[in-house]
Amino acid sequence: GIGLDFTQITLEMEDGWALLTINRPKVLNALNQETLQELERALDEVERRKEIRALVITGAGEKAFVAGADITELRRIETAGEAERQATLGQTLFTRLEELPIPVVMAVNGYALGGGFELALSGDILLASDQAQFGLPEINLGVLPGYGGTQRLARLAGKNTAKYFALTGDRMDAETAYHLGIVQRVVPAANLKEEAKSLAAKLARKAPIAIRYIKQVINQGSETDLKTGLRLEASSFGVVFDSQDRVEGMDAFLEKRKPSFRGE
Ligand code: HXC
Repeated sequence: GIGLDFTQITLEMEDGWALLTINRPKVLNALNQETLQELERALDEVERRKEIRALVITGAGEKAFVAGADITELRRIETAGEAERQATLGQTLFTRLEELPIPVVMAVNGYALGGGFELALSGDILLASDQAQFGLPEINLGVLPGYGGTQRLARLAGKNTAKYFALTGDRMDAETAYHLGIVQRVVPAANLKEEAKSLAAKLARKAPIAIRYIKQVINQGSETDLKTGLRLEASSFGVVFDSQDRVEGMDAFLEKRKPSFRGE
């Protein structure tokens, strides 16, 4: 593992990518303040280490990815201002994750509820175990999703799909999430780790600058009109074309060999 004194998560370095595990299995990996702070520090570390070219996030144990914000902690919040700050804090962290310059793969191994679903929604690619369950049960606690769920789910799956799940609190299985375009692939539970690993390794071998711009252009483009998005695509195409990796990629193709990208 990477030598940081985490207690609620683990961060392990693999070959060119990192594995972050939310590690509070006794409470189904619920997110308390300390976990959010450690997540923040983990992202600092991931961004600092240029050799990390992809990040996988998963939950410890068999049962849960993340069962939401820690309800024991939420219950102690006393004022509207404090609650708003809490929502903003989580939103800021998840937006940072979404905007990370490397791809983030969510390996959803079980319950992804409330804040856990919202965490998953801030990833770039969602792999789900066939045992995964997604949902926004906040309504059953008398509140609403506060870490971006109302916004990201509506953008990803459509307004009324988001309303259905946020209003009813019903859970959906992995197959349903796949059909709604939330999850990119469903795999047998026993294969999830392997699949996430090979996907991360594959992404880590791609040209890092192109990866960064693809992610940015799709994220920013989905928040704007088509013409603005296309301009963004063209200007980014120009920027990426200036990279050494572009020369390497095209040379490798013409020389019938595998490219070796260096992020330059
Ligand atoms: C605190 C939690 C928890 C949570 C589970 N636990 N989820 N503790 N916060 N979100 C704890 C349980 O209290 C229990 O502790 C242990 O984990 C095991 O859970 P069980 O409920 O016994 O397991 P099971 O019966 O299998 O049910 C699994 C479950 C259920 C369906 C996932 O745990 C559940 O409904 N959890 C809450 C899901 C939820 O409402 N999430 C949204 C939170 S609000 P003990 O001590 O009994 O062993 C949110 C808002 C985000 O995320 C925005 C904030 C601004």
